Amino acid sequence: MATPKILMCPPTFFAVEYVINPWMEGQIGNASNATAVAQWTKLHELVSSLATVELIEPGEHLPDMCFAANGGIVVGKRFVKPRFRVAQRRPEEDLFAEWFRANNYEIITLPDDEPFEGEGDALIHPSFPILWAGYGVRSGLEAHRTLSEALDVEVVSLRLVDQRFYHLDTCFYPLPGNRIVYYPAAFDDLSLREIERRVPAENRIAVPEQDALNFTCNTLVLGKTLITNSASESLQKELGEWGYEFKIVPVQEFMLAGGAVKCLSLLIDQDLGENPESRPPQTSAVVTTRLSVTGHLLDTGLLNRMIDNVNNAGGSCCVEEFEAGARKDQTSTAILRVTGANSNRLDSLVGDLIKLGATPATDPVDAIVEPAAKDGVAPENFYTTNIYPTDVRVAGEWVRVDKQRMDGVVVVDTKSRTATCRLIRDLEKGQSVVCGYQGVRVHAPNERQSSSEFAFMSAAVSTERRVELEVETLAWEMRRIRSRGGKIAVVAGPVVIHTGGGKHLANLIEHGYVQALLTGNALPVHDIEHNMFGTSLGVDLSRGVGIHGGHTHHLRAINRVRDAGNIAEAVAKGVITGGVMHACVKNNVEYVLAGSIRDDGPLPDTMFDLVAAQEAYASAIEGAEMILMLSSMLHAIGTGNMTKSGVRLICVDINPGVVTKLADRGSLESTGIVTDVGLFLNLLASKLCESE
Ligand code: ARG
Repeated sequence: MATPKILMCPPTFFAVEYVINPWMEGQIGNASNATAVAQWTKLHELVSSLATVELIEPGEHLPDMCFAANGGIVVGKRFVKPRFRVAQRRPEEDLFAEWFRANNYEIITLPDDEPFEGEGDALIHPSFPILWAGYGVRSGLEAHRTLSEALDVEVVSLRLVDQRFYHLDTCFYPLPGNRIVYYPAAFDDLSLREIERRVPAENRIAVPEQDALNFTCNTLVLGKTLITNSASESLQKELGEWGYEFKIVPVQEFMLAGGAVKCLSLLIDQDLGENPESRPPQTSAVVTTRLSVTGHLLDTGLLNRMIDNVNNAGGSCCVEEFEAGARKDQTSTAILRVTGANSNRLDSLVGDLIKLGATPATDPVDAIVEPAAKDGVAPENFYTTNIYPTDVRVAGEWVRVDKQRMDGVVVVDTKSRTATCRLIRDLEKGQSVVCGYQGVRVHAPNERQSSSEFAFMSAAVSTERRVELEVETLAWEMRRIRSRGGKIAVVAGPVVIHTGGGKHLANLIEHGYVQALLTGNALPVHDIEHNMFGTSLGVDLSRGVGIHGGHTHHLRAINRVRDAGNIAEAVAKGVITGGVMHACVKNNVEYVLAGSIRDDGPLPDTMFDLVAAQEAYASAIEGAEMILMLSSMLHAIGTGNMTKSGVRLICVDINPGVVTKLADRGSLESTGIVTDVGLFLNLLASKLCESE
């Protein structure tokens, strides 16, 4: 075998002078240059005995230049110049490029905005034409595409997710024969799957955390010799079985800067192992698309959110154009370039952005539809809806989706050019279902968030005064809805009755402020129990004490209603004489009772076909302008799931967690109020009903 060729750079100016990776934190000024030089000299000696070592002269005041692996990547006679993400190391770029030019290499330069930190993030698999490339911390995904084209090699993009393993060579090294040594926790799930797909289990050695933290993956492989800072006995044994022998060279001083043996050496005699002419040209799986977004991008933090979303999901996002609104009331427009490791990953990144209101920057194309193959089953790649107004493009025209709700699919009728939101279970075989994100446009809100206001309200300070102010605004809105003949729906739980709020709710119903009541079995049971026996769950509400035998009252109440037939008949027969349900019946207010596993009885009116109950809920809130959610987590969440945006949601609960969960729809239209629901109803009813 030919002697390998390595480029090294003496650590003449090595020191820790700044922090650009977690290892350097707290280490400024701590590295001894003399110790580093001594360690490097030993390493250089050993490497020279196994390879031809070339030296590049260190640049003055470039303390990290000794980490030659970041100086670029060499394949055959082609050298790709690095593009450091961090400004501190940028001056090294030209020094490395000059050395390679002087040594007759062809210099390849990446576009300016594509960070790429050389072999630190790009490792050729020996005798196997693929390039393993890391991204996510230092190098960017965009560079992978350019690398693949420039070097004509298949690039496998691996996303690094642990800042301590910020370069691929800190957590991965390939060995001939399709083998690898790696630290799995440094990669995200999809990348691990990609590795597992390409390298069979018996060819992978996963190193334990302790080894990884000792930089054991930063190994220089020279034939059957593995030169590294440290390797546990068990790891030495495992690699021994593959025929490798370790040579341990301590380089602790360099570890203070986050580098070890491999970082100190750049391979300069690599090629792709076979005649490039004999294989088809390689293409990269990395894909890019452009999206445009308009709105209050800065004030609402929407642009940040979009960029974070893409990065957190393993993609890369670059703002290519930005036109900022000059005043607070003016919107901004941005063109985003989004890159994913492959088209599947890009699709899901784009999907997230479209749900936040972005649209493809290219000319609009029709939505892709596929027929449902069976009743109640959507095509595999169906688009899922959210609460915001949505358009789909049908035969060259944008069509607004009807019956918008979240967690549905969109059914398109091409002939009538209509689109409707449907639940998967309601699909009929053959219906055209929108798939993917193409030709879908979501009108997500871009006004300022209400969350900060809400956070203030839920804060312990002056909660009571806040509630009063909230109720005042609410009363004003409810009066306006009533006066224009609008619809208000109430979703309520039994706590309304237990806290003495029943009579106030009944009062509101009688005054025409409620057009639909959505609840379960318990609220009517305790409401009726209270009407018949003066108790709620056996507790005398007027005195607040338990009544002897009271625990059976609710069963007796249920029994009397069953005897009468149902709630309405019990009202008609004078069995129920007051309370919430009585008010509903007397005022023709629709009520839907959805059952659950813990219900007693149940009342004859309670629906136990839950699919039917969901449908009845959905139709009861149709046309509602406001929904009051009163201390009922289960039924309120259920209702929230079927409500489109644009409906005012008021959530009242003593538990801030419940309020946050329900009220956080990311827009102004929902308000959370943390308070006792009985007190709340008392306040509200006195504002709305007393003067009348
Ligand atoms: N302090 C250097 C940096 O953060 C260390 C580079 C280590 N090199 C490597 N190939 N991992 O850039």
